[in-house]
Amino acid sequence: MENNKNFYITTPLYYVNDKPHIGHAYTSIACDIVARFNRLKGNNTFFLTGTDEHGQKVEKSAKDKGYNNTLDFVNDTSLFFRNMSEDFMLTNNDFIRTSEERHKAFVQQAWQKLIEKGYIYKGKYEGWYALKDEAFYLEKDLSVNEKGEKIAPTGAEVKWLSEESYFFKLSAFEEKLLEIYENNPNFVKPASRLNEVKSFVKSGLKDLSVSRTSFSWGIKVPNDENHVMYVWLDALLNYISVPESIGKTKELWPGINMVGKDIVKFHAVYWPCFLMALDYEIPKQIFAHGWWTNEGQKISKSLGNVIDPYAIKEQYGLDAFRYFMFREMPFGKDGNFSHKAITSRLNNELANEYGNLLQRSVAMIIKHNESKIPACKNSLTDIDLELCNKANALLEKCDGQIKEFDFYNCLISVWAIVKDCNAYFNDMEPWAIVKQDKERFNQIMYCTCYCIKQISLILQAFIPESAEKVLDCLGVDKEERSFADFTKDIENNFVFKPKSPIFTKVISE
Ligand code: MSP
Repeated sequence: MENNKNFYITTPLYYVNDKPHIGHAYTSIACDIVARFNRLKGNNTFFLTGTDEHGQKVEKSAKDKGYNNTLDFVNDTSLFFRNMSEDFMLTNNDFIRTSEERHKAFVQQAWQKLIEKGYIYKGKYEGWYALKDEAFYLEKDLSVNEKGEKIAPTGAEVKWLSEESYFFKLSAFEEKLLEIYENNPNFVKPASRLNEVKSFVKSGLKDLSVSRTSFSWGIKVPNDENHVMYVWLDALLNYISVPESIGKTKELWPGINMVGKDIVKFHAVYWPCFLMALDYEIPKQIFAHGWWTNEGQKISKSLGNVIDPYAIKEQYGLDAFRYFMFREMPFGKDGNFSHKAITSRLNNELANEYGNLLQRSVAMIIKHNESKIPACKNSLTDIDLELCNKANALLEKCDGQIKEFDFYNCLISVWAIVKDCNAYFNDMEPWAIVKQDKERFNQIMYCTCYCIKQISLILQAFIPESAEKVLDCLGVDKEERSFADFTKDIENNFVFKPKSPIFTKVISE
């Protein structure tokens, strides 16, 4: 397994027009899992997240919420997102706000460069704009809703715009983009999303309007201050403005951009073109995840069914929430949130199968072996070794799955060992054996504890708080929890009784 490699992953920058919902927590935790896993591998990992603070939508929200000054509003709301890091145990290395000077300065320089290279020209934009998506649409892509109003394919309302605007020569990149998609099938994942962008580009690229004059909350266009930059041009550049601001572009770029399926077009079509025009490499990969529904219904503010990640965390615990989201729905597909499903995963998988296995082993070692994991690494039987080897093989398997962002199958692989371990423990009946054959009892306890350690080393990426408690309980040295020490034995460690069960079961609703 490679180590010492540079690994850079980003979340989209979140609009600060509202508080965080399950979608924000989902993308951020996905990146956190990958970042943690890469750090455990020994890779030089950089995880970036932050807030998208400009544009008409944010300006309107500030007004609607009674703020006289949009900056005061974004200062307040961006905090909700910044706090998510601590509250959801996100290990991001930086947090960028697009209203920061370091970002604005970079974006204005980039603009100048685009002007100098002839990629931006002035004209007039006439067409449809959806404020909700901060996106331009062609007449042919619109439909009509039940009220007779024109709407975008996303369902967002559109308005006719007619204003002076700067344009980015997107059309110049059509061929080049199609070549990229053709030569690099992993550029956009899953494959269904790649097909989507391919057909979008094949249908013809028009130059993109990249400035607005009808509002002022944005980064000013250099030398033409009536214009503010299009919010997507501004926001996408964060993935480069941050490494540039800390002198790490060479080390970190190209990185991986994780996004939701709704914003693939911006990342897989516009973003590589901006980069090529600015002489940067294109991203290594754009990975698009699916969307959550709530108890079978589309999540929307108007339906009043937005899921507050803080409420879920409060009710089930952070790790149950983190585990559930990545075990319940394959990453890249859509899935459904339900209280019944999270309750079942917490109670059965985390508490019964994983937590309880630890509790039972610990209780027996405390009672029969003076709280010490028995020293019998060299006397294991074939059946013990078979299980330990299976647990050892987990790392390579999970590594392959995490590289593909296949969190779902990664957890299934881990749980196959959890289940094997439970079956082994039950079949071996250490509670009975201890009375007749202490040596065999020792082997069973050693083997079970070793496998729980292997499982927990991997789970550090998914459920960091609980995995840490388990490893503490097994006396695994804090300095020996990286994957470099994966197959290190645990002989003779003291086991400690956890103060309370690692997972608290909940009663189903
Ligand atoms: N500001 C832009 C991104 C700019 S990146 C340079 C934006 N922000 S957002 O706040 O609206 O979206 C944040 C993320 O939340 C998106 O990746 C989106 O896909 C995700 N989700 C929004 N609702 C969601 C669900 N119901 N389920 C899963 N993810 C969802 O877009």
